[in-house]
Amino acid sequence: MKGIVFTEFLEMVEIKFGLETVDNIIENGHLPSEGIYTSVGTYEFNEMVTLITNLSEETKIPAGDLIYAFGLYLFAGLANSHPEVIKNYNSPLGLLYCIEDHIHVHVKKLYPDAELPTFKILDKTDTKIVMVYSSSRGLYRLAHGLIEKAFEHFGGSATITYDLLKEDGTEVKFDIVQNG
Ligand code: HEM
Repeated sequence: MKGIVFTEFLEMVEIKFGLETVDNIIENGHLPSEGIYTSVGTYEFNEMVTLITNLSEETKIPAGDLIYAFGLYLFAGLANSHPEVIKNYNSPLGLLYCIEDHIHVHVKKLYPDAELPTFKILDKTDTKIVMVYSSSRGLYRLAHGLIEKAFEHFGGSATITYDLLKEDGTEVKFDIVQNG
């Protein structure tokens, strides 16, 4: 998993829960990198799992809810670090439609060792999109937060529902309907 995900995560934890919590979740971790990340480095996905598990224990907030909150936080971090990746889109549905074939393709050029999910589009109209998230990491709640923020980025909002096609969350269908 790319370092930018870790640096953004720890930044969110510091803002929402304070520096002491950041220290605690790192120290309880037995983390190979000892909690030191650079945005261009690559670290084991397991380290992120450990950080989230520790944060969940520390805050008593379910891990899934923390991952969703992180998705909400991460969108701006990615968009600000790589404005060129999203500058050509003028609508949230257009952006979502292009994650698989353009946005994450671009990300793969920036970070050749990035481990990205796939999004298969099942249906798209002017007001809605249906797509299936697949990833061995099962970070569908992260995807949910990112999708929600994509709408806010363009000044809108959406009603987002999802169905787990696989119980472990490695395949999840999203129904996304633009509001208004
Ligand atoms: C990883 C979804 C837009 C860059 C991920 C992951 C998800 C995701 C769920 C976690 C990995 C996994 O689940 O296997 C989305 C969605 C987007 C979006 C739903 C739009 C709403 C973007 C944009 C950028 C970006 C705009 C860059 C400007 C990345 C990077 C990673 C990532 C760097 C980390 C890869 C790694 O750790 O190896 N994305 N993404 N994504 N995405 Fe996206």
